[in-house]
Amino acid sequence: MATAVLGLQWGDEGKGKITHLLAKDASMVVRFNGGPNAGHTVIDRGVKFGTHLIPAGAFYPDTTSVLTSGMVIDLRILREEWDMVSEHLGWKPKLLIAENAHVIMSYHRDLEELEGSGKYFGTTRRGIAPTYRDKAAKVGIRVGDLLHPDIALQRLELRLDLLKRAWPESQEIQALSACTLLEDQLAVAEPLLSFVGDAAGAIAQAMAAEQTVMFEGAQGTLLDVDHGSYPFVTSSSTTFAGLGNSIGIPNPQVDHRLGVFKAYMTRVGAGPFPTCVSGELEERLRSIGGEFGVTTGRPRDCGWLDLVALRYAIQLNGCTELAITKLDVLSGFDEVKICRSYNLDGQSIMTFPLSAEVLERCEPEYETVPGWSEQISEIRDVSDLPEQVMALIQLIEEDVKVPIDIVSVGPEPEATMVKR
Ligand code: IMP
Repeated sequence: MATAVLGLQWGDEGKGKITHLLAKDASMVVRFNGGPNAGHTVIDRGVKFGTHLIPAGAFYPDTTSVLTSGMVIDLRILREEWDMVSEHLGWKPKLLIAENAHVIMSYHRDLEELEGSGKYFGTTRRGIAPTYRDKAAKVGIRVGDLLHPDIALQRLELRLDLLKRAWPESQEIQALSACTLLEDQLAVAEPLLSFVGDAAGAIAQAMAAEQTVMFEGAQGTLLDVDHGSYPFVTSSSTTFAGLGNSIGIPNPQVDHRLGVFKAYMTRVGAGPFPTCVSGELEERLRSIGGEFGVTTGRPRDCGWLDLVALRYAIQLNGCTELAITKLDVLSGFDEVKICRSYNLDGQSIMTFPLSAEVLERCEPEYETVPGWSEQISEIRDVSDLPEQVMALIQLIEEDVKVPIDIVSVGPEPEATMVKR
């Protein structure tokens, strides 16, 4: 059986916690996109981790954690996380790193600063876009190249030649040496190189053998490079629509496509956000929800739940079931707002505009529902939730026409209830 856990907003929906919970029964947990721009919060045996690259499967002894070709990998960060998780567990997690995944080099991070794109787009400054750009331009370095240092050196020399011609005045770029870069990569990657191999083949084999395989999404649907609020997006396919290509399996049979969304919305970095709120309300959501980036520590913009965006995200992912997270954050609000349509230039619209400029002009049209005063974070059975919470869940289900099967009311694994 295969399950994909997919973010339905602008990232930070709580996918890490849900994946970590579901991963304990999986033989394989597969990260299929992005890189260390992701920040997954996982609480394992009472210890809180903010992971960026290592999949949630790494916390379980019988699970292989796979990093696929859809990813861009900063081997320094992966090594740090692998060492940290190994120390916590007392054994070394099993990894499989796709030989055709691309490596984030130090110059990719430098380029975001030199070009100013990090600032303009409010990126995580982890070198994500420059690495995906090098991949498309065929001048990237792949993890498998490190198994053949002579090939890696040739590729690096070509890349540095182009880079030095493009940046004649940058001392940083002019000082780069292919040999030194390669030596640094090999030193940091050394204990991980035995994990490099044919990820697509291994995933196909596990699926054919009907093992339990989990696909762990990073970022959210609205950040998808093709289908998100372009250009204020990340550089990878974050949705189920892109998963097949990212793992190298045509039309993968994933019966459970679990979409995860927060009971409100957040966004970090630049770009339009129709239901964004300000002032005291935003402060309240941010402080109760702990809405600060796991990767960058930046405060996230906060707003009400947007069902226009949610319907669009569900469609792109073909979600079969949903998980709602952080419902506890809304406790104590007299009323809760839900956006069901937008007003665009005087007209009510139900669909999510693809153009960021058009989305910027959309005003949310809200329905207001009663809030609840009770704290719900200690509740462990859905039937004990206040009736206003159940009414809110029902309203969302009826609107988006997909069942909400998982309800999360706190960061701990126990604060997760199965509704169906
Ligand atoms: P990049 O992925 O670093 O290129 O950043 C592009 C945009 O995606 C920026 O607005 C980032 O803040 C956002 N972003 C990237 N990864 C995440 C994530 O894991 N959660 C939330 N936002 C993200």
